[in-house]
Amino acid sequence: MLITGASSGIGMATAIEFAERGACVALVARSEHGLDRCSAAVRDAGGEPIVCPADVTDRAAVQAAIDRATAAMGGLDVVVVNAGAAAFGAFTQTAADDFDRTIDATLRGAVDTIREALPHLERTQGSLVVVGSVADAIPLPLMSAYTAAKHGLRGFVDALGIEMRSQDSRVALSLISPGPVDTPFWDNVATQEGHLPPRLPGAYPPEDVAKAIVSCVDRHRSGGMTVGGLMVLAGTVHSLLNPLSERLLAHFAGWARTAGQPGPGARAIHEPAGRGELRTGLASRPSLLTRGLAVAGGARAAISRR
Ligand SMILES: NC(=O)c1ccc[n+]([C@@H]2O[C@H](COP(=O)([O-])OP(=O)(O)OC[C@H]3O[C@@H](n4cnc5c(N)ncnc54)[C@H](OP(=O)(O)O)[C@@H]3O)[C@@H](O)[C@H]2O)c1
Repeated sequence: MLITGASSGIGMATAIEFAERGACVALVARSEHGLDRCSAAVRDAGGEPIVCPADVTDRAAVQAAIDRATAAMGGLDVVVVNAGAAAFGAFTQTAADDFDRTIDATLRGAVDTIREALPHLERTQGSLVVVGSVADAIPLPLMSAYTAAKHGLRGFVDALGIEMRSQDSRVALSLISPGPVDTPFWDNVATQEGHLPPRLPGAYPPEDVAKAIVSCVDRHRSGGMTVGGLMVLAGTVHSLLNPLSERLLAHFAGWARTAGQPGPGARAIHEPAGRGELRTGLASRPSLLTRGLAVAGGARAAISRR
């Protein structure tokens, strides 16, 4: 399998989860230090890592990373499109370049990865899992570029899925949309107004997103999955009670603009930020919904294997 954004957080947790099944895992990100740490963790977990450094905003580098991975592994069964980064702050304070870099890393990089990976997956009738966000359906104030990128990603995946169905593709295409996850993501944002996003209680552990990704691969069925029961509720409230939910989000934005720690952020939209760390130690809680679905999916896969 191949995963982008493997030098940190959800990507690293997912690489380890697949490694525990003995997978050969191609690790893509920019930070060689972060990739080396993930590579060691994959080996410790029983997998075989292949380090493929690349910036997903560089189309030629994405192509070279996938060529390298397929040459080493002889093909691709699973691709997880996960790399992403963001700017945080009011749109009017956001430099145009930072807005564009967020779109490039989070949307265009994903599209370029999928363009290169899909022919390999068609050959193996494999699985393509794309990591979205609750921001692919709910607008997040102070993260307008990120919201635009993730909404765009959802639209792209939906349209691609219909095309693939019309062409009788056997590739399973899934969009995983996590709620807040305790990863270095929130320290890696480029801050526009000098404050990091406030740390909210109740983030999910990255391992839960990894389990959701693995269970999508096990089911080998196209579709979407939200990580976090509360996030399913938030999505329902947003679509049913829209004027009210937007008013609540506006209050939240007024508070969140300056409620976080002062600091510049790691500016992952511009430079490598992965440090080979899974989390930052936010108070996190497991998603019972995701764990339940993962157990059910694992049981179904075991029964169908038998
Ligand atoms: N954390 C959350 O609350 C949350 C919630 C919903 C969805 N997500 C999504 O989950 C995905 C993973 O995020 P995370 O939470 O695990 O954050 P993270 O810990 O900051 O990891 C982001 C990963 O993306 C890589 N990356 C960023 N820009 C890149 C680029 N231009 N080229 C190659 N790799 C790049 C980073 O590696 P390098 O810096 O080494 O390149 C890193 O490995 C993202 O798509 C994010 O939008 C996160």
